[in-house]
Amino acid sequence: MIDQASGLRELVSRNDIHNSKFITIASGKGGVGKTNFAVNFAYVMAKEFGKRVLLIDADIGMANVHLFLHLDPAKNIKHLFMGERIENIIQRAYEFDALLGFSGIEDLFDMEDISIQTVIAQLDEISKNYDYIVIDTGAGIDEKVAAFLRASSKSYVITTPEPTALMDAYALIKSMYNIYGYENFKVVVNMCKNREEGELTFNKLKVSVNKFLGIDIDLLGILPYTNNLRAAVKKKELVTMSYPKDSYSINIKRICKEELKIEPVVQEKFWQKLFDFMGKS
Ligand SMILES: Nc1ncnc2c1ncn2[C@@H]1O[C@H](COP(=O)(O)OP(=O)(O)O)[C@@H](O)[C@H]1O
Ligand SMILES: [Mg+2]
Repeated sequence: MIDQASGLRELVSRNDIHNSKFITIASGKGGVGKTNFAVNFAYVMAKEFGKRVLLIDADIGMANVHLFLHLDPAKNIKHLFMGERIENIIQRAYEFDALLGFSGIEDLFDMEDISIQTVIAQLDEISKNYDYIVIDTGAGIDEKVAAFLRASSKSYVITTPEPTALMDAYALIKSMYNIYGYENFKVVVNMCKNREEGELTFNKLKVSVNKFLGIDIDLLGILPYTNNLRAAVKKKELVTMSYPKDSYSINIKRICKEELKIEPVVQEKFWQKLFDFMGKS
C-alpha cells in the first residue's frame, strides 16, 4: 500500500510548498456577509483555537476590513512594491494579523519582473508563519477574484437564502468550474432564520451543482441572522468578541472546528500562481 502520509510530508518539506492553508472567501452577490464572516472566522481561529492567522483584504470595489479592525489603510501592499519590508506592512488586529491594499494591486504591475519576483519571495516567506491565510474578496467574479480562487486550494462561497444570492453563488461556482475546472468550494449559508432554512438553501444549490455541472459540493456551516451582529458592526466591534454567546458566534466556532477536522490540502506556490493568473510575473 502506498504511504500517502509520507508523500504529503515529503511535499510539505519542499521549499516551494506551504503548510499554511489559503482560504479565499467569495460570493456571487454583494452584501451577503463575506467581510463579517472573514474577520470573525479569523478572530475565532486565532483566539479560540490558537491558530496563527493572516487576513488579507482583497476586495477590489469596497475594501473595508480596516474599518472593522481599526487599521491604518495607508499601511498597505503598495509599499511592498515600493521596496518596504513586508514586516512593516502587516498590522496586528486583535489576535491575528492583517494585510491590506490588494484592491489596487493591478496599478502596481508596471514594474520590472525582477521586482515582482522579490515581492513574491517576501509574500512566500511571510506566509510560512501562518496556519491560515484568509482572503476576503469582493462580490461577483472578475478576473482578480478568479485569480485568488484559482490559486487557493480551498475556498468558501457565502450565500444567503435569498434567491438572488443563491443564483449568484451558483453562477460563481459554474463559471469557475466551466472556465477553469476549479471546484474546491465549500458553502456557508448566512443570515438564516433557522437551521432548516440554511439546509434547504444549501440543498437547492447542491442539486443544481450536481445536476447541471456534474460536481459535488459540501456544506461547511449555517449562520443565523442576528441583530447582535448589526449592533457590533455599528460599534465597529466583532460580534464574536462582543457577543460570544450569540448563535452567530457559536456557529462560527462550529465552522472553525469543522475546518480544523478537514485533512490538510497541499498548497503549492500560492503567490506565484496568483500573480501568473493576474497576468503578471
Ligand atoms: N448574520 C448576519 N445577521 C445580520 N446581519 C448580517 C449578518 N451578516 C452580515 N450582516 C449585515 O450585512 C451587511 C453586509 O455584510 P458584509 O460582511 O459587509 O457583506 P459583504 O462583505 O459580503 O459585502 C452588513 O451591514 C452586516 O451588518
Ligand atoms: Mg465585504
